[in-house]
Amino acid sequence: MAVIRVELAGRGYDVHVGRGLLDEAGTLARDFIRKDRVSAVADSNSHAAHGAQLEAALGATGVSVDWFITQPGEGAKSWSVLEKLVDWLLDRGVERGDHIFALGGGVVGDLTGFAAAVLKRGCGFVQIPTTLLAQVDSSVGGKTAINTSAGKNLVGAFHQPALVLADTATLDTLPPREMGAGYAEVIKYGILGDAKFFAWCEVNGAKVTARDPAALEYAVTQSVKAKARIVAEDERETTGTRALLNLGHTFGHALEAETGFSEKLLHGEAVAMGMVLAARYSARRDYIALDDAARITAAIDRAGLRSEIASLGITCTGAELAAHMLHDKKMDAGTLPFILLRGIGEAFVDKHVSMEDVSAFLREQLQAH
Ligand code: GLY
Repeated sequence: MAVIRVELAGRGYDVHVGRGLLDEAGTLARDFIRKDRVSAVADSNSHAAHGAQLEAALGATGVSVDWFITQPGEGAKSWSVLEKLVDWLLDRGVERGDHIFALGGGVVGDLTGFAAAVLKRGCGFVQIPTTLLAQVDSSVGGKTAINTSAGKNLVGAFHQPALVLADTATLDTLPPREMGAGYAEVIKYGILGDAKFFAWCEVNGAKVTARDPAALEYAVTQSVKAKARIVAEDERETTGTRALLNLGHTFGHALEAETGFSEKLLHGEAVAMGMVLAARYSARRDYIALDDAARITAAIDRAGLRSEIASLGITCTGAELAAHMLHDKKMDAGTLPFILLRGIGEAFVDKHVSMEDVSAFLREQLQAH
C-alpha cells in the first residue's frame, strides 16, 4: 500500500494505491462523508463489478449509497447525461460540502468531476478508478470534461478530487486490451521524465499487463508519484511541465481521428503508437539516437502493444494524418506544440515543428514495415 500526496496549496489530497483497499473505503473516505447517504456514479459495468463491494465498505460505517448509473462508453460524457446527473444530484439535495463518489474508468471520473465542478459552483468528489488508465492518469490531477459535437473534452474544468482510492484488485476483471491501453500511460512516465523507471518497464512491462500483483502495484505507485509531482508543479498546464504528459498524444490524436475514435484503436493504444512516432520524429530531428527510438519501440512491443501505424490498415496520406492534428485542442496561437525527446526520460515542448516535415515523416511511417 502507498499513499501519495498531491501537493496543491489548499487543495492537496491523498492518492491511496494498493490491493484490496476498496474494502476500506468507509474508513479511508470517512473525512469526506457528512451524512448517512452518499451519491455515487458508475457505469453499468463498474457498478456490476464493484458496486456491491463499495456498498458493503461504506455500509460497515453506517453509510448507504444512492447510484446514478450510466451506459458504458464515451457517450456518457455528454451534455444530456451531465444534465440528468446534475438534476439527480440537485433532487437529492447534494450540498457544496458533500462529496460525490465516482466508481469507474476515465469516463465516469471525468463526468462526475465536471458535475462536481459546476454543482452549486463546486462541490467535492472522490475518485475510485477501476481501470489502469484511470488509476495512473485521469483520476489524478483534476482535469474533468465532457465531449461536444466539435470534439472530445472540449468543455470542462480543472477541479481536483478530495481523495483517490486506486485499488489494484479492481483491475483483475479488466479486459486485457484495456490493461495494454492503460500501460501506455505507465511507460509514458518513464519515457518523458524517468529513465530508471523506463528501464524497469523494459524488464517488467509484460508482468504489469499480465497483472502480476507486485509489478502492477509498483507501476501504479510510480506513475501516480510522477503525475503528482507534475500536477503540483503546473496544475493548470501553463508552464509547459504538465504539457509533457501529452507525449504521444498529438500523433496519437491523428490516429484516433483517422480511425473515428472507435474501438478500432483505444486511446491508450493510440498513445503507444504516438510515443513511438514522437521518438522516431525526435531521431529524425537529431534530438535522440535512432537506437533510443528503437528501445522505446521494443519496450512497447514487449508489453503486447502495437507500435507500427502500418498495422492499422489505414489508407490515408501523411498529409491527411497531419491535418487531423490541426484540430487538436493543444493548438496555440496557430502553432501546434509537439512533445519530443532529447533522450529517454527527457521530454520537452517543441513549438517550431514544420507540419510539412511531419507530413513527410508520416508518409514514410505509413509505408514502412
Ligand atoms: N492526462 C493529461 C493530464 O492530466 O494533464
